[in-house]
Amino acid sequence: MCGIVGYVGNRSAVEVLLKGLQRLEYRGYDSTGVAFQKGNRIEIEKSEGKLENIFKRFKEMDLNRAPVSTVGIGHTRWATHGKPTTQNAHPHRTGSIVLVHNGIIENYREIKEDLMKKGHEPQSETDSELFGFLVLEELKLKKSFIDAVRFAFQKLEGACSVVVMSENDPDTVIGIRNGSPLVAGIDSEGAIYLASDPQPLLDYTKKVVYLENGDMAIAKRSGLEFRDVITGKVVQRETIELQWSVEQIDKQGYPHFMLKEIYEQPTALIDTFNSNLDRIDPTSFPLAKHPGVDKLMNASELHLIACGTSYYASLVGKYWLEKYARVSTQVEFASEFRYRDPVLDDRALIVGVSQSGETADTLAVLRDLKKKGKATAAVSNVRGSTISRETDGAFFTSAGPEIGVAATKSFLTQMGIFLLWTGAFLERRKKGSADGLFEETVHLPHVLKNYLDDSSGIREKIKEAARATVTKKGFFFIGRGSSYPLALEGALKLKEIAYVHAEGYAAGELKHGPIAMIDENVVVIVLAPKDGWRDKTISNLEEVKARGAQIIGVGDPSDRHLQDLSHHFIPLPTLKNEDLNVFPLSIVVQLFSYELATLKGTDIDKPRNLAKSVTVE
Ligand code: G6P
Repeated sequence: MCGIVGYVGNRSAVEVLLKGLQRLEYRGYDSTGVAFQKGNRIEIEKSEGKLENIFKRFKEMDLNRAPVSTVGIGHTRWATHGKPTTQNAHPHRTGSIVLVHNGIIENYREIKEDLMKKGHEPQSETDSELFGFLVLEELKLKKSFIDAVRFAFQKLEGACSVVVMSENDPDTVIGIRNGSPLVAGIDSEGAIYLASDPQPLLDYTKKVVYLENGDMAIAKRSGLEFRDVITGKVVQRETIELQWSVEQIDKQGYPHFMLKEIYEQPTALIDTFNSNLDRIDPTSFPLAKHPGVDKLMNASELHLIACGTSYYASLVGKYWLEKYARVSTQVEFASEFRYRDPVLDDRALIVGVSQSGETADTLAVLRDLKKKGKATAAVSNVRGSTISRETDGAFFTSAGPEIGVAATKSFLTQMGIFLLWTGAFLERRKKGSADGLFEETVHLPHVLKNYLDDSSGIREKIKEAARATVTKKGFFFIGRGSSYPLALEGALKLKEIAYVHAEGYAAGELKHGPIAMIDENVVVIVLAPKDGWRDKTISNLEEVKARGAQIIGVGDPSDRHLQDLSHHFIPLPTLKNEDLNVFPLSIVVQLFSYELATLKGTDIDKPRNLAKSVTVE
C-alpha cells in the first residue's frame, strides 16, 4: 500500500526523500508528496499522480528560494479514504504538525465526529489527516511532542504506521508502527532513515531495524531511539544486515523492472535452493535445519493460505505435495479462509504464503489460528517481514527485491520452495521415490537460463504471438493438472498489466460454460506440455479450434499435433520430469503478458489501481 519515508541527516532531505519514494513507488502511485524543514517552518510539496509530477515541480522551483533542508518526510499513496487528489495527498498539515500515514484508521468516523465537535475542520477526505488533530489536542494538554504523538496514536484503531514532524520541534522525525511495516536505519555518517520497506535505505546503509508493532522510532540529530508507544519506555531492537544490493533495485538497462525480474529467475531459483538446502547433508533433498522444517515434517496436513499470485504458486505446490509426498494439502484465499470455520487436524500446519510477508488477509489468518494454538509457518521473500516473524517457522525465497508490481520471480521461487518441500517429505516419509528429482531440481535453473537466452528464440516467438493477437477482445489460458494454476496465473498477469479480459480455465471445464464465448475474436492460449494430461488437453483444444478461436499452443517441440492445431506455437524445453514444466511455462505466460502490455502501452511496472503490498483487508 502507501510508501512512507523519513530522514534526519546532512544531505538534501528532498533528494533523499524523492529517491526513497522512487524506490517505494511500487507500493502506491496515486499521488505523492514531501515535507521538508526550512528554518522553523515545514514546507510541503505534493501532487496527484505519479512521482514524476513532484520531480518536475522541484526542477521548476527556483532553487535559491529553497535553502537545503536536511530533515523531512515523504509519501506515495494508494488511496483508501478519499480520491487520489492533491488535496488528499500526504503529507498533511494540521497546525504545527505535518504527517504521513500508511494503513487504515478504522475508527476514523468516531474520531472525526469528536474532532469536529471540538471545532477542528479537516481539509481532506482522508482518515490520515485526523491524526494531526489528535496530536494537537494532546499538545494542548502541555505534553511534549513525543508524548503527544504517543498518546494520539493510542486513540487509533486498525493497522497503520505514521511518520510525523512538528514545526515546534525541529530536527525530529517520529515514526510509529502498528501493523503496517516500518524500518529504520542509520548510515555511517549518523544520518537516520525511516521507510515502509528497506529499499530506500539500501542506497545508504544495509543495517536496518524492523520496528515491532507498538514501536516508536525517534530520529533526532543526536541519534535514533526506540520506545514502546504505550509505556513510553525505551526498548532495544535488533539490527539486521540486509542481503539485498542497490544493483538489484535498479533497472540495469532493462526497459522495465518486470522484464529484468523475469530474466533474473534462474539466479533467483539457484539462490532459493542454496539458501534452503544443506548441501553437506548427504540425504537427498536435505532442507537446511530450522524450526519451520520440524513443523513442516511433523504436519499431518498442510493449509496454504495466500492471495493473488502466491495463491497460484501454492496451487502448484498442492499438485506436487499430494502426488509425490502424499501430504494432504489445501490451498485457500486468505480473505475467504478467514471467515470460514474450517475443520483442521490437531497437527495441521497453516502456511502463509506471501512474497511481501505483509499482506493483511494472510497475516490475519495466521494470527487467528496461532491464537487457537495451531502451528504456523511462512513462505516469504522478505526476511524481517511481519508474517515471517510472527509464524513458528519461516522459509525464505531468495528472489531479491521484486519491484514490478506484477509478481514474477517471487512466484517462480515460491514454486521452488514447494518443490524442495516435496522432495524433503519424500525423503523423510519414504512414501515415494525421489529418484532423479533432486538432480533435475538443481539442474532446473540452467534449463531456464538457456530457455531465456536470446539464442533460444523464445522471446521473438512470444512477441510474434502477442503482435498477432493484440487487438483480440478476450483471452483464455487453459491447462490441466499442474498447468491449470499456470493458466490462472497467466490470466492474472495479463489482466494486471495489459488490462485485457483474460480468464484461466481448467481445460476440461471449458465446455461447461465458457465455450459459449469462443469465436474468432477470442484467443486461447493452451498450456499443453508433454505430460499425463496432454492428450485430454488436446481434445479440449479441438473443441475450441472448431469454433474459430485464435490458438497459441505451448508444448513440447516434438508435438506435431499441437503445432498443427495452433496459429502460433511456443516450444518448451524438454524436461525429464513432466511436473517441472510449470517453471518454463511460467516464463511463457509472464513474457506473453509483458509483450502484449508493451504493445498496449500500459504502465507495466506500476499498473493502474494496483499496489505490490496489500496491507488493507
Ligand atoms: C497484490 C499484488 C500481487 C500479489 C498479491 C499477494 O495483489 O499486486 O502481485 O500476488 O498482492 O501478495 P503477497 O505479498 O502476499 O504475495
